[in-house]
Amino acid sequence: MSVTTPEAVEATKHAPPVPGVEENILRRWSPRAFADREVSAEQLKKLFEAARWAASSYNEQPWRFLVGRKGDETYRKIFDSLIEFNQSWANSAPVLMLSVGKKTFAQNGNPNHYALHDTGAATANLALQATASGLHTHSMAGFDNEIARAAFGIPDDYEIGAVTAIGYLGNVEALPDPMRKMETSPRERKPLQEFVFSAWDHPAQF
Ligand SMILES: Cc1cc2nc3c(=O)[nH]c(=O)nc-3n(C[C@H](O)[C@H](O)[C@H](O)COP(=O)(O)O)c2cc1C
Repeated sequence: MSVTTPEAVEATKHAPPVPGVEENILRRWSPRAFADREVSAEQLKKLFEAARWAASSYNEQPWRFLVGRKGDETYRKIFDSLIEFNQSWANSAPVLMLSVGKKTFAQNGNPNHYALHDTGAATANLALQATASGLHTHSMAGFDNEIARAAFGIPDDYEIGAVTAIGYLGNVEALPDPMRKMETSPRERKPLQEFVFSAWDHPAQF
């Protein structure tokens, strides 16, 4: 059976149930086909509220987000920084965001080696809130850092994180062939024993 309707794609992409694990964690996934549907300002604000409550080293909250909506200049600048592959699908996303982390602590100027760690945690919060709101996110490393930095005049004291597309799930038929296949294949993950250790390279026992 071909998996093409948004509902069927959703079902294929959800992780198998794990009793006791939050539904939204299992349901979050990164699509490449977004619907031609605007994300309201109210919905968007909720996502950033979720990001806002992430934990961070010394509660520095080093994250900054540049957010653009299709048609505005911020969107265009972020979009222009993407590599061609990402441009080919991300053009369907109604919202693009660029995450940035402040590399030094505001209070004393000392280096904050956790700036991107904490910016990633805030982005993960945002992604889970998106899932809870019926939205999807898709982060990207495939963009030109220097183009993005220059386009926004991002100071040296800030490290650029990732671009994230945000929107509602669209029709997989709109994607070119190889991407359509990725969009309709189940998600895969390493088993716990490959990354949860009790000693280096020794799987923890549960
Ligand atoms: C930091 C980061 C960078 C990524 N870069 C890209 C990218 O440039 N292009 C792309 O199509 N997907 C990109 N992805 C998406 C990953 O391929 C995807 O998250 C991974 O395959 C797991 O799939 P899932 O998010 O649906 O669970 C990126 C994801 C993250 C978190």
